[in-house]
Amino acid sequence: MGLLKNQVALVTGASSGIGKSVAFYLAKEGAQVAVNYYSDKEGAEDVVQKIKDIGRSAFAIQADVGSEEDVLRMFKAVYDEYDNLDILVSNAGIQKDAPFEEMTLDQWNAVIRTNLTGAFLCAKQAVKYFLKRGVVEGISKSAGKIIFMSSVHQEIPWAGHINYSASKGGLTELMRSLSQETANKLIRVNSIAPGAIKTPINEDVWKDDEKHKHLLKLIPYNRLGEPEDIAEAAVWLASDKSEYVNGTTLFVDGGMTLYPGFIDNG
Ligand code: NAI
Ligand code: BGC
Repeated sequence: MGLLKNQVALVTGASSGIGKSVAFYLAKEGAQVAVNYYSDKEGAEDVVQKIKDIGRSAFAIQADVGSEEDVLRMFKAVYDEYDNLDILVSNAGIQKDAPFEEMTLDQWNAVIRTNLTGAFLCAKQAVKYFLKRGVVEGISKSAGKIIFMSSVHQEIPWAGHINYSASKGGLTELMRSLSQETANKLIRVNSIAPGAIKTPINEDVWKDDEKHKHLLKLIPYNRLGEPEDIAEAAVWLASDKSEYVNGTTLFVDGGMTLYPGFIDNG
């Protein structure tokens, strides 16, 4: 079967974009997958079907990651279905963009709630379970793996998107501190920081020729990323191939964080 044989994964925000691809790639490597969605039931059922079509197991579970009640219900559903959990991919995320002086408290709160508080609530439940369960011989060398979906904007400041970059900066220290706190229990916590990946979150940019051309100038590798570029990284980070990787961010960005403005001598 594959790198994640007999493991159970929960992927949040998995009805579209990066999460959808991550769920499918984890399943391809042998994981049984809980596909979390917020409102797009059809999108979630589509990925569940694609996973079943390759002979693996998956089910869809609705939950708002920003609600503790929903998160508890979601984790219970995973244990009811699979009686186990090995991998959490905390991927759900949103943007609510506005110039700083016009940003409403609602826009600020919505982004922090989903991108940061949602990650906290889900990681807390996963850690509780991993601590109780420990390492399972023959399944994985770690007691559990958590992957947060961060962004290049944990590093690159992003004018006009300050709620978003603040949420990803916060997520980075959540990830690093949690890894420091739990590594001695053999729980591995890491982030992936995608660059510009073609998904619904930024389709207003990549579907517009001019904006697309402008965006390419920020990507030395000269193409936007595909969700599969991120899914491949998630498989590696979830597997024992990366066993000694703890508290790190893996940038998957076509070089976006390489100061592309300096390509022509600055
Ligand atoms: P997307 O919009 O397709 O996916 C976001 C998912 O999160 C959606 O399925 C949405 O329903 C779900 N979601 C939103 N609020 C939720 C909530 N309260 N509870 C549960 N699920 C919720 O966009 P994409 O690009 O796939 O985003 C996935 C993650 O990747 C996000 O965290 C985003 O910040 C991050 N990211 C995306 C990049 C890109 O260029 N596409 C680059 C860097 C990071
Ligand atoms: C954002 C996208 C953006 C990308 C690169 C991501 O975190 O969600 O909208 O295209 O960063 O700037």
